[in-house]
Amino acid sequence: MSTYQERILILGAGGQIGTELCEYLAEKHGSNNVIATDLKPLAYQPSETLDATNASALEELVDRYQITTIYHLVAMLSATAEKHPEKGWALNMDTLFHVLNLGKSGKIKKIFWPSSIAVFGPSTPRHNTPQQTIMEPSTVYGISKGAGELWCSYYFEKYGVDVRSIRYPGLISWKGEPGGGTTDYAVDIFYEALRKKQYTCFLKADTYLPMMYMTDAIRATVELMEAPASDVRVRTSYNLAGNSFCPSEIAAEIKKHIPDFEIDYVPDFRQAIADSWPASINDEAAQADWNWKPKYSVERMTEEMLQGVKSKLNL
Ligand code: SER
Repeated sequence: MSTYQERILILGAGGQIGTELCEYLAEKHGSNNVIATDLKPLAYQPSETLDATNASALEELVDRYQITTIYHLVAMLSATAEKHPEKGWALNMDTLFHVLNLGKSGKIKKIFWPSSIAVFGPSTPRHNTPQQTIMEPSTVYGISKGAGELWCSYYFEKYGVDVRSIRYPGLISWKGEPGGGTTDYAVDIFYEALRKKQYTCFLKADTYLPMMYMTDAIRATVELMEAPASDVRVRTSYNLAGNSFCPSEIAAEIKKHIPDFEIDYVPDFRQAIADSWPASINDEAAQADWNWKPKYSVERMTEEMLQGVKSKLNL
């Protein structure tokens, strides 16, 4: 725990992770100590609209709210960034520098920045991918996350900036919606199963990817942020494992609850992205350094997702 009152600013708070992270942190620290920002207005209070590429607007908010900690969740994800390479690179990198520089100037004490399994590429060992291994990403998103990790480590080593990071697997949630990733099928499938009992998947049936239920991902994020600085030995970004499954496996799990659910497969450009990523992840470093342990099985995640999406769709 910090010895000072944390004042937290969340960038990109309207996104898939931010939606749940805001709630979780507000519960923990009191909502007046957790300020949410996004390009679009948010229901959460207190919140501000902010274009995180605008460094002076960001700094003004940091000053006004006397922020100590930033969770930087702004990014263009893998599938969208392939369509807008330069925009994706600029958004992902410029916003990271703005936040790292606030750390360097001493205005804020702690930063969280998400990395991804996308930092790995086709030459990386695909199974049980180690913390340290070959990293030659083939997507714009992966290149931006790989470079970002190195910048985080550089700012830590050179300037003592306490920046911490996780390489998230595909994240599965029902409260917030994913935006433009390759792993989004594993969320879409629940909506379509409940709405139409039919889903056309944009990845092949046997495409294994590392995945995680959002409840586990949020807990991991906050556990990493609360760990004593000396325990955080990896200053690029931590591998984090939850479950590894493929579309036909998650479809079979859904079928246990919705027996007439049907799936077919029409792979598109996202197949090549998925094929370049690991099938499963080794997270021994996170386990050893800050006692990481996932709690959700695919079975339990499927039950909660079906319940959550059902209530969201008023079914
Ligand atoms: N879920 C992300 C994506 O598919 C990976 O970090 O882009």
